[in-house]
Amino acid sequence: MQKIHVNASRQYDILLDQHLLEQSGELIRRVTKAAAAVIVTDDHVDPLYRETVEVSMRRAGFTVSVFVIPHGETSKSHDILLKLYEFLAEHAITRKDILVALGGGVVGDLTGYCAATYLRGIEFIQIPTTLLAQIDSSVGGKTAVNIAAGKNLIGSFWQPSLVICSLDTLDTLSDEIFADGLAEAIKYGCIWDQDLFRLIAEEDIKTHLAKIIYTCIDIKRQVVEADEFDHGTRMLLNFGHTLGHAIERHFHYETYTHGCGVAIGMATLTALSEEYGLTASGTTEALRSCLRKHHLPVETPMTPQEYYDGCVHDKKRAENRISLVLLKEIGKAYPYQISVDDLLGFLKKEGAPHAG
Ligand code: GLY
Repeated sequence: MQKIHVNASRQYDILLDQHLLEQSGELIRRVTKAAAAVIVTDDHVDPLYRETVEVSMRRAGFTVSVFVIPHGETSKSHDILLKLYEFLAEHAITRKDILVALGGGVVGDLTGYCAATYLRGIEFIQIPTTLLAQIDSSVGGKTAVNIAAGKNLIGSFWQPSLVICSLDTLDTLSDEIFADGLAEAIKYGCIWDQDLFRLIAEEDIKTHLAKIIYTCIDIKRQVVEADEFDHGTRMLLNFGHTLGHAIERHFHYETYTHGCGVAIGMATLTALSEEYGLTASGTTEALRSCLRKHHLPVETPMTPQEYYDGCVHDKKRAENRISLVLLKEIGKAYPYQISVDDLLGFLKKEGAPHAG
């Protein structure tokens, strides 16, 4: 079993191996004295993995109840959150008990936010079952629910007490959901690690999957340890996300998964920044070819005005400025501040102000 220790406002381990669900109760018991646990999962993951985790937790001495939500982004709502709070109260869950998020990013974000706020905060465990959740959303303590105005607008930084990545759970993912996570892995290579990018771009992904997941998580650990509360370095993780969120929103979250939005966002932004000489030449082609190799999209028919309209809604906007993340070259990223007034011209290829 591999272990990555995260030194954040709460210290915790991320465990990686095949078949960890069978031992999950014992692993969780090592980090908590809780008597009761609530497993939160969705209706896709429930029939696949819930029983294995539940049996293991009972064996480790936990009293277990299960709360199942409908799969999909619409479950990251106040409605479901309220039902979860009521469920915890009905089951007399106290501050000494724990929540266990078993599933992808939606389950993790909702459960984490519930844990952050129920009784002013209780501990929770992440058991991510998608590639995206294993390499990104389960690590680093960002938790949230959505409101009509946008995704993740209500949230909290609340670190888990343990993350259990059982690599075999990725075997049941559809190609589409797997690619969703791969876009984030490619992002880590772009912003931080040229060797990781080369591995994903040139080698057989399945052969190297455990190494890729470990490397991505370790990059996230470094970023979170440097800037847990998202004031600087952590923003680099948003490479491709400002345009990506605009794309997801423009197509009403129906046409593109998050990963596909990020893939197009990374490729579109890099093509622009390369044209302005802000990114080394050849970077766009390397990125596009890696994305295409993994059946990820690199463009979509959106006008500069449509991108602009989506970007000005971004939660990373501060007063009149938007923070973009650009690549210097593959493996190196930097923040690029642009005023809202200059953004449309930038997107229309009319000019780029000097980096601020
Ligand atoms: N997923 C971006 C972050 O955790 O900061």
